[in-house]
Amino acid sequence: MYNVQIIGTGSYAPGNIVSNDFLATFMDTNDEWISGRTGIKERRISIDENTSDLAIKASIKAIEEAKINPQDIDLIIVATATPDYFFPSTACIVQKKIGAKNATCFDLSAACTGFVYGLNVATQFIKSGQSKTVLLIGAETISKSLNWQDRKTCVLFGDGAGAAVLTRGEEGIISIYTGSDGDGAEFLEYAAPQLRNIFTNNSEESNNYLKMQGGEVFKFAVKIIIQCIEKVLEESNYGIEEIKYIVPHQANIKIIESSAKKLGIDKEKFFMNIAEYGNTSAASIPLALDQMNKQGLLQDGDKIITVGFGGGLTYGAALIEWKNN
Ligand code: COA
Repeated sequence: MYNVQIIGTGSYAPGNIVSNDFLATFMDTNDEWISGRTGIKERRISIDENTSDLAIKASIKAIEEAKINPQDIDLIIVATATPDYFFPSTACIVQKKIGAKNATCFDLSAACTGFVYGLNVATQFIKSGQSKTVLLIGAETISKSLNWQDRKTCVLFGDGAGAAVLTRGEEGIISIYTGSDGDGAEFLEYAAPQLRNIFTNNSEESNNYLKMQGGEVFKFAVKIIIQCIEKVLEESNYGIEEIKYIVPHQANIKIIESSAKKLGIDKEKFFMNIAEYGNTSAASIPLALDQMNKQGLLQDGDKIITVGFGGGLTYGAALIEWKNN
């Protein structure tokens, strides 16, 4: 069995920065409410780039850092809730644009937990020997799912992408834990087109926006972050004091403050960039990871935990020993 190491990261977000003050020009909201309850100051909203465009730009940077040839990649996974198409998969579009001719490509649907699920899938493919080099991407134009009349929800999200190249290595992913709870499916949903065929008489306008019961998701998030972190620590025999950073899904600073308090740790252990990007769904963890990497926050041997949660409901964490390439 092989170990699995991250050898390159990259990220990209659209240039269009949308502040809370700008949102207040066309909906009944204000900076104080949004930043006070969530920590979000601004987000990026794509004007003319789709999910695959963001994914490609993040991937090119990750491939450069990994110092590999795109033809070395044998698996591309795009975790996304907002693909360009149902098919072809976003992963196939990325494959074509970067020239990764030897890759098997598919998208992965686990909402905001998509990158952590993807880490798990990539790890299993590499450990088993099925794959050698995997390009894992979390990418979203979640803005296209938003109802801009729903101020409780639309102010929280933003667009972006993050990518990582994984390969066989000595250090790397030490333990991974994932899970799902379909009983909470209705707390966070984004419907696909309704059933429509020659036997149905369905002429209703589609109303498929992202919908969320914020309070329920908040409670779930705090509980599950703690469960996920405890699980990967238990499986790896590390203590929380040995973890340098926790890289959480960036959904709400209050979720992180509550989780840190319940875990009895300093909230500074959680890397946060939510103020600038908002919740970018499956992109949030790889975007944060790439920022940390580029800022030189990660040294050889550092132990970090990525932890995600989201629609499904889905959740998961990975404990990683970092090695700079
Ligand atoms: N601007 C101003 N006021 C707003 C507002 C906005 N954008 N959105 C809601 N409000 C108002 C509400 O209408 C309500 O007013 P009322 O009391 O007069 O009815 C008040 O603020 C409180 O609303 P509520 O929904 O109870 O706020 P909250 O404290 O529960 O915070 C969230 C709402 C969404 C910030 C919070 O529930 C949350 O972060 N949940 C988790 C969401 C999440 O992370 N989802 C993604 C997971 S992947």
